[in-house]
Amino acid sequence: MKFPGLIDAHVHLRTPGGEHKEDFRTGSAAALAGGFTVLLAMPNTQPPLVSSKEWTIAQTRANQESLCDIFLFAGASEIFIHELPELAKKAHGLKVYLNDTYGPLRVAGIEPFRKIVQAWPAGKPIAVHAEGETAAEAIAAAGQYGRHIHICHVSRKEEIELIADAKARGLKVTCEVTPHHLFLNEADADRLGPLGDMRPQLASQSDVDTLWQHINSTIDMIASDHAPHTLEEKGVIVDKPMEGYTSTRTAPPPGVPGLESTLPLLLTAAAEGRLTYERIQTLLVTNPRKIYNLPSQPDTWVEVDEKASYAFPDHPLYTKCGWSPFEGRRMTGRVRKVIYKGKTVYQDGKILSL
Ligand code: DOR
Ligand code: ZN
Ligand code: ZN
Repeated sequence: MKFPGLIDAHVHLRTPGGEHKEDFRTGSAAALAGGFTVLLAMPNTQPPLVSSKEWTIAQTRANQESLCDIFLFAGASEIFIHELPELAKKAHGLKVYLNDTYGPLRVAGIEPFRKIVQAWPAGKPIAVHAEGETAAEAIAAAGQYGRHIHICHVSRKEEIELIADAKARGLKVTCEVTPHHLFLNEADADRLGPLGDMRPQLASQSDVDTLWQHINSTIDMIASDHAPHTLEEKGVIVDKPMEGYTSTRTAPPPGVPGLESTLPLLLTAAAEGRLTYERIQTLLVTNPRKIYNLPSQPDTWVEVDEKASYAFPDHPLYTKCGWSPFEGRRMTGRVRKVIYKGKTVYQDGKILSL
């Protein structure tokens, strides 16, 4: 079976400043191994991409160093608000952090958020990290200022229901969910310890079930929120592979990698009849392309063996962090081949363009 090159519209590639966790080359290699040929990368780097100068330096590096197409988000910061008109000419979207998470980027309070929303043009999406109450505030701003608000990594029943309601009222609101919020729950968080810790945190099975009820309607896209941190940073001692993880740290950085597990998980769900292959294409290609106005990729496609059954991963992981919260999980469906702009760049576990 074939898909067009897949789009992951929410990844953290760590360049600049966190290259020991991931860089454009290793992150894009992980993308190809997972069937993705387009990435949208987040601006919570060091320095963060809140000025036109830093953004342009990073985008130039992305173009030079990566094995697939990478587009960088602009970052929002109250003190760099004057940069937004220039950034809006270049980036496909703006990212605003309304809750605490990894990295220094955070817009504290609703007033600065409203100023930022007004300084960004109506035609391009404002992606928000907004959990619970801040999601409601972000949706209100969509209505008030006529802007396109995209809610990242929706994880809870109240949030997805709020978004369904906003859409029904005609607001320009879209959203994404991550595979970890669709395939893991609080019990997995206990089992995985720091390797199951991310923001938003894993939710209850009832939240997970509610997300699945919206998979063919309210949910516009699936994005991995690929957020690599090293095992050392996670403070993890691996006692025995896939049994008891314990952390030696009190506050390991939140985030899990996802580029290489996203498509296998979704193909597995399709093999089980929980999702159609057509819907996978809508969630991973059609909708992200439309929402972020991304160019099409000629002569680019992914070949999958939708029947292959194996314990994940079926190849050594390409992400620099080298682990996955889904290690050992039975999957049905794997990437066989990726053709990118006319060239075979990945085949049966091997990147051919490295
Ligand atoms: O778990 C997370 N990790 N959530 C985020 O919002 C940021 C990300 C990261 O950059 O590590
Ligand atoms: Zn986030
Ligand atoms: Zn993120």
